[in-house]
Amino acid sequence: MKKIIAFAASNSKSSINKQLVTYTANMLVGTDVTVLDLNNYDVPLFSVDLEHSMAGQPINAHKFLDKIREADGIVISMAEHNGAYTAVFKNLFDWVSRIEKNTFFNKPMLLMATSTGVRGGQSVLGIAKDRFPRHAANIVATFSLPSFSDNFKDGKIVDSTLNDTLKETVKEFINALSIMDIQQENDNSKGSFYIEREGVRLAQMTYTFEAPNSMVIDHTEVDARMKGQGVGYKLVDAAVEYARAHALIIVPTCTFVASVFKRKAEIYADVTA
Ligand SMILES: Cc1cc2nc3c(=O)[nH]c(=O)nc-3n(C[C@H](O)[C@H](O)[C@H](O)COP(=O)(O)O)c2cc1C
Repeated sequence: MKKIIAFAASNSKSSINKQLVTYTANMLVGTDVTVLDLNNYDVPLFSVDLEHSMAGQPINAHKFLDKIREADGIVISMAEHNGAYTAVFKNLFDWVSRIEKNTFFNKPMLLMATSTGVRGGQSVLGIAKDRFPRHAANIVATFSLPSFSDNFKDGKIVDSTLNDTLKETVKEFINALSIMDIQQENDNSKGSFYIEREGVRLAQMTYTFEAPNSMVIDHTEVDARMKGQGVGYKLVDAAVEYARAHALIIVPTCTFVASVFKRKAEIYADVTA
């Protein structure tokens, strides 16, 4: 199942953008959505001097980036303060962009905004639409909800035209997600996990089975067109899921997989010898 992270670019406990994100998350049927709260990723005010004295970035900035890295898709609703990002979002974004300039890893993104005003946060939406692609955002759909207090009541959008527009937007997002569908082929001795688009294999991880219960992953390859989207990690996840379901131990002779297993030794302990 596709993993989606959704969050409002706000730290307000009663954030209207969080309400919109939560409503949208419920429309993403058949996906595994986690709604994040920026209050759980508190970081100090960014300064190059602090970054220098810390010799790096705060752990919460790393944790937030990990959430993006592990997701198949991203839903964001931008709150607008004085025509731009909220301070809390800008601050976290600045820190995270120092760790990874390609902050959004080319994952399909549904980008939204709402505000209490009639423009529905279109200024900040425009800023984000212009800027995020420079950080490897793959914005596949956008939506703005104007006059939140009039159009959103009891946890849902009450204007049917706006609601239909959001439904269409969600459909576009869902369609974009299926690009990352991983397939598998298998016989008794070997197999592969792969991604194919229009008959062309764009990513592949191959393995052999060895007695009594090992799956030796020997090679991972990602086409240049799919680079930077975390595809290699997705293939690893697929292999781990398969190994768990079939009580197999993974032996990574592929250097990429070996490095992932080394870095995430705790997570993969149950499928490691
Ligand atoms: C400091 C500040 C500046 C704001 N500036 C704008 C603005 O430029 N445009 C707008 O539509 N709403 C503006 N608002 C109203 C916000 O849209 C409203 O507070 C909204 O609830 C923010 O989203 P959130 O609840 O998700 O944090 C501003 C609110 C604050 C507190």
